[in-house]
Amino acid sequence: MKSEQDSIINYDLVYAHIVASIVLLAVVFLAGMLYSLQFLHLYPFPGIEFLSPGRVRTVHTNGAVYGFIVNGFTAALYWALPRLTGQRVMNEKYLGWFMFIALQGAVAATAIGILAGDSQAIPWGETPWYVDPFIVVWLLLALVQFTTPIYKLANKEPLYAANWYMIAGLVWIPMVYIMGNYVPVFFVPGIAGAAITGTWIHDAVGLYVTPIGWGLCYYFIPVILKKPVWSHALSLLGFWGLAFFYPLQGVHHYLWSPIPMYAQYAAVLSTIVLELAVVSVIVNFMMTLKGRAEALKESIPLRWIYVGIINYAITCFQCAIQVLLTTQKVIHYTDWVVGHAHLIMYGTFGFWIMGFISYLWPKVNHSETYSKALDEWAFWLLLLGMELMWVDLLAGGLIQGFTWWSLSPWMDSIRYSFPFWIGRTASGTLMSIGLCFYIYNFYKTGRKKTVSLIHAHEVGAGGGVR
Ligand code: HEM
Repeated sequence: MKSEQDSIINYDLVYAHIVASIVLLAVVFLAGMLYSLQFLHLYPFPGIEFLSPGRVRTVHTNGAVYGFIVNGFTAALYWALPRLTGQRVMNEKYLGWFMFIALQGAVAATAIGILAGDSQAIPWGETPWYVDPFIVVWLLLALVQFTTPIYKLANKEPLYAANWYMIAGLVWIPMVYIMGNYVPVFFVPGIAGAAITGTWIHDAVGLYVTPIGWGLCYYFIPVILKKPVWSHALSLLGFWGLAFFYPLQGVHHYLWSPIPMYAQYAAVLSTIVLELAVVSVIVNFMMTLKGRAEALKESIPLRWIYVGIINYAITCFQCAIQVLLTTQKVIHYTDWVVGHAHLIMYGTFGFWIMGFISYLWPKVNHSETYSKALDEWAFWLLLLGMELMWVDLLAGGLIQGFTWWSLSPWMDSIRYSFPFWIGRTASGTLMSIGLCFYIYNFYKTGRKKTVSLIHAHEVGAGGGVR
């Protein structure tokens, strides 16, 4: 039976976006594993242009954001927003399903376009030029769809901090997408354009993934723990810190480049200052857990979320160190950065999404998780694999950086890197096994619902359960 609160949630849309997110995560893993084999001279499709390694890498990175993360967040927003506001989203029947199909179409067109060689030379903006306008329209539709319930509530009551973050992410992303994907291509060429592409890479993470991720944590953590967030003031400090200091950071991707030094210094400074906002959010989440830490044992969704928060703290601390110009002399362009990217994109935001999905999937299926043991195996394998990959890439990155600095022959750095590239494929294999457990459990949990629906139908009580 659905409660009154649940009747304003469209379970089918949550369900569909979750399935899309998990399927696309599997594709992301597959592409990552394939590309990692290229570093070991074991790439299985040599000479096939459509599947050339560089293109598969781009499918991997774009699939992670537009496929896995956007679908995962959209599913969670369809669940959380009506509950946070007591209002329905703008339109589920037409707009909701149109947006669902359009998103999967845009992801498929991006992947096929990239494999066909139509990438644009913008990191994370490789999306072929002919897909970009559709993505902008989708982002505007998402803005209308999800801010409508917040707008309706704002006329009556003050908003939860979670809503602040969600509004921000939804408003910022169309603006930064247009800036990052059009301005450098059509209006600002050369080094100034490069500075803008750096800003886009960081804004995609900082002005969409971060506020939506934080906002959803501000919803799911109190709900799972059944207690309020520790400090409302800290949640607002985090919000304004994010708004003021994130947008300036992008140039830190191009330190020691020909971009004017004042822009590089500004990027370094704002990156370090942002740590204050990040710390305020982490402290708030940790203090909310205080006195209820035993819940981590029972609730796997909560565990995913909190392990993500710890990874977040580690990555952000790492960020404040790696952004220093002195550190950059060693780590720039090395695997250190790739290790950092994985810990933030998967070890933090990806783990949060795994937590949201683990919480929502049994609910939208009206069933229990199929196997707690499988859930545990998936959790520990994915966690272990992720942390090993991170350590492996950091260590490999340091060795590469120092080898280049010592002006040793380039091939030396390749030889020294080889064991670390084996380590990456091995830790990726561990993660892939974990993901297989997760997906099998996910599938069986969903099947439980289907079986119980058929049964209910047979005894004449079925129909419209979701
Ligand atoms: C089996 C798991 C995975 C493997 C083996 C893997 C492997 C790789 C490889 C080989 C690269 C290219 C590195 C280079 O060009 O030097 C890469 C880049 C990247 N991957 Fe993964 N990956 C995995 C999972 C993921 C997941 C789940 C995400 C995000 C949700 C992700 C996000 C990224 C990002 C953002 C980059 C770009 C890093 C950069 O340019 O600095 N990866 N990955």
